[in-house]
Amino acid sequence: MNEVQLELNSGVTYPVIVGNGVLDRLPSLLPAISNRAAIVTQKKIGVNIQTGIEQKIFEIDDGEEAKSLTTIEQLCSAFAQWGLTRADVVVGVGGGVVTDVAGFAAATYHRGVAVVHVATTLLAQIDAAVGGKTGVNLPEGKNLVGAFWQPSGVICDLDTLETLPEQELRSGLGELAKYHFLTGDLLSEMEMKDRIVRAVEIKAEIVNQDEKEQGKRALLNYGHTLGHAIESVGNYGIKHGEAVAIGLIYAAELAHTLGRIDNDRVLEHRRVIESYDLPTVVPSVIDDQDLLSAMTRDKKALDGYTFILDGPEGLEIVRGVEEISIKETLEKVR
Ligand SMILES: NC(=O)c1ccc[n+]([C@@H]2O[C@H](COP(=O)([O-])OP(=O)(O)OC[C@H]3O[C@@H](n4cnc5c(N)ncnc54)[C@H](O)[C@@H]3O)[C@@H](O)[C@H]2O)c1
Repeated sequence: MNEVQLELNSGVTYPVIVGNGVLDRLPSLLPAISNRAAIVTQKKIGVNIQTGIEQKIFEIDDGEEAKSLTTIEQLCSAFAQWGLTRADVVVGVGGGVVTDVAGFAAATYHRGVAVVHVATTLLAQIDAAVGGKTGVNLPEGKNLVGAFWQPSGVICDLDTLETLPEQELRSGLGELAKYHFLTGDLLSEMEMKDRIVRAVEIKAEIVNQDEKEQGKRALLNYGHTLGHAIESVGNYGIKHGEAVAIGLIYAAELAHTLGRIDNDRVLEHRRVIESYDLPTVVPSVIDDQDLLSAMTRDKKALDGYTFILDGPEGLEIVRGVEEISIKETLEKVR
């Protein structure tokens, strides 16, 4: 078992527990005052949760469509009908959709109830459940409404990944791929458990320095400017991590177009993505113009098109990238 500690500048601290069979550590992560636990999950997850206190299951629907304000309203109404109070706890049990929704509901219900996450997909274990970003989608784009709301603890039990469909595992590898370029760690050469632990450590190091994404934390969005656009324009017909993988290739090609990196570094991106058997081209049904419109609505876009790009000093936020370079580079992922 490994325990990674989040120690935020704000003074908040909490553990992320990674290992096989660590689900039984859940009761120890609940705040001492918790009387009851509202377990937010999805039908097909089927992880047996024992909080050790009175608990009730609240199921939400599957998929990105369920990451909506409608779900938040339904969930909060169900919490109110059960009489959930600030002396209770929300437990999100699932992938990133569940932890984003459960986290946002916990952040806003009664202006804030404690939350603990049990991450049951690779993507949630290495990323979504850690770091306190919560939120939902709007028809206009991904994750446009949300809150920073740190959990009291996170469980990443590797045993829960045994039932995860192949495509979901691959989607997690898309997010894992970005960590290669954040630190240069050779994650693909590690055992799966060590990869998860290292990814959590990298994420923790970044979030500890910049909880509210005033600077460095934005680097965790590497590959996401195009990735999020592909997801929303494609009506979420592609998995998040797969869209991020295409976004990573595109970001490398764009950095090359702008003279920031050489071709060897682009090939390095392609090698990592291909080694994880991830897609490298935008689905043909998705139109360039729609992608450009979606990219201007990205949360990072304070000044025209904004990307996280590789360069001589490593990854950086690059604002005001010219449309002609963006359009020209889209051909490299067609
Ligand atoms: N908050 C953040 O910091 C952050 C970071 C990265 C991604 N995200 C978000 O995470 C979401 C994607 O998360 P995801 O890839 O986990 O997808 P997901 O939550 O939709 O889960 C994928 C599917 O796997 C099922 N599932 C989950 N655990 C299972 C298990 N153990 N066995 C069998 N089936 C299981 C789910 O029911 C679902 O059908 C996106 O909405 C993305 O925006 C958030």
